[in-house]
Amino acid sequence: MIEITIKRPDDWHVHLRDGAMMNAVLPYTARQFHRAIIMPNLNKPITTPRMANEYKKRILNSLEVHAENYEFMPLMTCYLTDETSGAIISEGFKGGHFFAAKLYPANATTNSSMGVTDIKKLSSVFSVMEQLGMPLLIHGEVSDSSIDIFDREYVFIKKILIPLIKEFPKLKIVLEHITTKEAVEFVRLNRKQVSATITAHHLIINRTSIFEGGINPHRYCLPIPKREVHRLSLREAATSGDLCFFLGTDTAPHRINDKESSCGCAGIFTAVNALELYTQVFEEEKALANFEKFASLNGSAFYGLKANEDKVILIKEKWHVPGLIPVSDGSSIIPYKAGETLDWKMKP
Ligand code: NCD
Ligand code: ZN
Repeated sequence: MIEITIKRPDDWHVHLRDGAMMNAVLPYTARQFHRAIIMPNLNKPITTPRMANEYKKRILNSLEVHAENYEFMPLMTCYLTDETSGAIISEGFKGGHFFAAKLYPANATTNSSMGVTDIKKLSSVFSVMEQLGMPLLIHGEVSDSSIDIFDREYVFIKKILIPLIKEFPKLKIVLEHITTKEAVEFVRLNRKQVSATITAHHLIINRTSIFEGGINPHRYCLPIPKREVHRLSLREAATSGDLCFFLGTDTAPHRINDKESSCGCAGIFTAVNALELYTQVFEEEKALANFEKFASLNGSAFYGLKANEDKVILIKEKWHVPGLIPVSDGSSIIPYKAGETLDWKMKP
C-alpha cells in the first residue's frame, strides 16, 4: 500500500461560522488539523478582544460536545473596520486574544460590509501592528464594481499592497487565498515581509470549471478562480516547497439554499476532504516530498510557532466524498466534490 506520513498540518485560513453550522463543520477541520486561524467574518464580525474570547469559548465548547477526540487549537483574529483603534489591537494582541488581524476591503466578499472602506484610515493601526509584530491577513481584492471581477486581485496588489508594504516595511503580511501568477510573483519578490496561503480548490479549478456542463454554484468562491495559466502558477508555487507559501483551505460552508439560489453565496466547503485534495495535487505534480513543507512546516515557521509533534498518514485508497453534510437545524452543506471518488484518504 502506498502511504505518506507527515507532521500534522495546520489550516491557516478557516471559516467555522457559529451555532448549528459550527457544530456540523468543526469536527472535520479538527480531525485533519491541529491548529487553525479562525476567520472573524461572522454575521456580527469579531471586532473586540471580548468577542474573540467568547467566540473561542463557543468553539472549544462545540469541540467538547461534537469532536471530543480531537486536540484542536483555534487561533482567533480581529476583523478590522474603519473604527478599529490601535489601542484595541494592542490590548487584544498583548492579552493573547487576537493572534492576527484580518483586513476585508468593504464589500469584497461574504460578510464584509463592515470591512475597511479606505485603507488610509488604518495607518495608526498598521503602525501598532508593525511594532507589535502582529500579522496582518489580507483578503487581497479591490471591491470597486467598475473593476472586472477577474482583475480584482491584481489591481489590489498594484494599487493597495505595493504602497502598503513600502509604508510599513516591518508589517508581517499574509496575502490570503492567492489566485494569480501576479500574486505568486509579488509574494516571492517580497518574501521577507509577505507570505501567502493557497487553497486546495484554487489548485484544482480554473474559471472555466465553474461553468462546466452548466453553472455550478459549488465551485463559486472569492477570489474567483482565474484562467488556467494562473492555476498552473499556483500549483508550481504550492508544490515548490518554498517557505513563503503554505496551506490555508478557506473552507467556507454555506447552507445549500444559500448556494443554490438566484444570488448564490461565495464559498467552497473543503473541510471534509482538504488534505486528500492537496495530496492528490502534490502527487500529480510529482512533489509529494514537498507536501509536509507546504502543509505542516512553512506556516508555523512564518507565525513563529513550533511544528506539530504528532503525525497524519495519507493512504492511496479510493473513497467517496459524502453527497451532503447535515446541519442540526434541518439544512445541509454540499462539500466540494460531493459524491465523487478521491484517490487519497486520511487514515482515521
Ligand atoms: C468566504 C466566506 O464564505 O466567508 N467566501 C469565499 O468565497 N472564500 C469569505 C472569504 O474568505 O472571501
Ligand atoms: Zn476565507
